Amino acid sequence: MKLGIISGTGKEGKALAIRFGMYGHSIFIGSRSIDKAVIIEKEIKLQLPKIDIKGSDYRNTVLAADIIFIALPYHVVIDELLNLKDVLKNKIIIDTSVPMIYNNGKFNRDSTIKDSISTQIYNSLDSTHVISAFHTISHLDLNNINKELDHDVLYFANDSLAESNFLNLITTIKGLNPVNCGTLDLSFLIESQVPLLLNINKIYKKSTSIKIKGL
Ligand SMILES: NC(=O)c1ccc[n+]([C@@H]2O[C@H](COP(=O)([O-])OP(=O)(O)OC[C@H]3O[C@@H](n4cnc5c(N)ncnc54)[C@H](OP(=O)(O)O)[C@@H]3O)[C@@H](O)[C@H]2O)c1
Repeated sequence: MKLGIISGTGKEGKALAIRFGMYGHSIFIGSRSIDKAVIIEKEIKLQLPKIDIKGSDYRNTVLAADIIFIALPYHVVIDELLNLKDVLKNKIIIDTSVPMIYNNGKFNRDSTIKDSISTQIYNSLDSTHVISAFHTISHLDLNNINKELDHDVLYFANDSLAESNFLNLITTIKGLNPVNCGTLDLSFLIESQVPLLLNINKIYKKSTSIKIKGL
């Protein structure tokens, strides 16, 4: 599949590019700076010489891709995506954003943000299919190409077209197990679990994620 990543130069975006590129998907790295995107393209090619990858700006990344991962700081997501509203029509977005703050040595969800970021995206764009997922999967796990994944991908969706395309994509990656968590309005629940994991990571000096038992 043709996958865009906005931004593909950050920790999570680059890690998604590596993991999905490893499995033969065509990757488009989007950045505010084309030079920065090309540097990341070259870095990833050194690691994975056979990867099909191209660095570009946000707009051309959306135009080139069918499915676009959003891995941006939460406070810029809506403005950046509103700039791309025209080209995002009929595309599928996978939003990974977490509204998180770090204060006094502790991670917490930003309590000033009421709705989940994915809900805000859904309400801001026309005819764009939105999935909320990957919040609890660290870049440290995704970009370690020697590490086999064994991760639940907790996801939220409002429409079946987005969901079926998402499931087709996820099942191409070994070790990713999708778990349907309901509609997008509920994804604020997972946003609160990320600071929980990061506080645990800090205490134990590990990279943790969430696995659902009993399914
Ligand atoms: N890190 C993880 O393990 C992880 C896991 C799950 C979810 N996430 C989510 O993914 C999102 C990105 O996290 P990250 O850790 O990858 O962050 P990051 O390393 O800081 O990368 C963020 C990227 O966003 C772009 N950007 C656009 N506007 C920006 C601005 N005003 N200030 C700073 N950067 C801006 C930058 O790319 P350009 O300059 O190239 O445009 C930058 O490389 C967050 O919402 C986070 O909650 C992260």
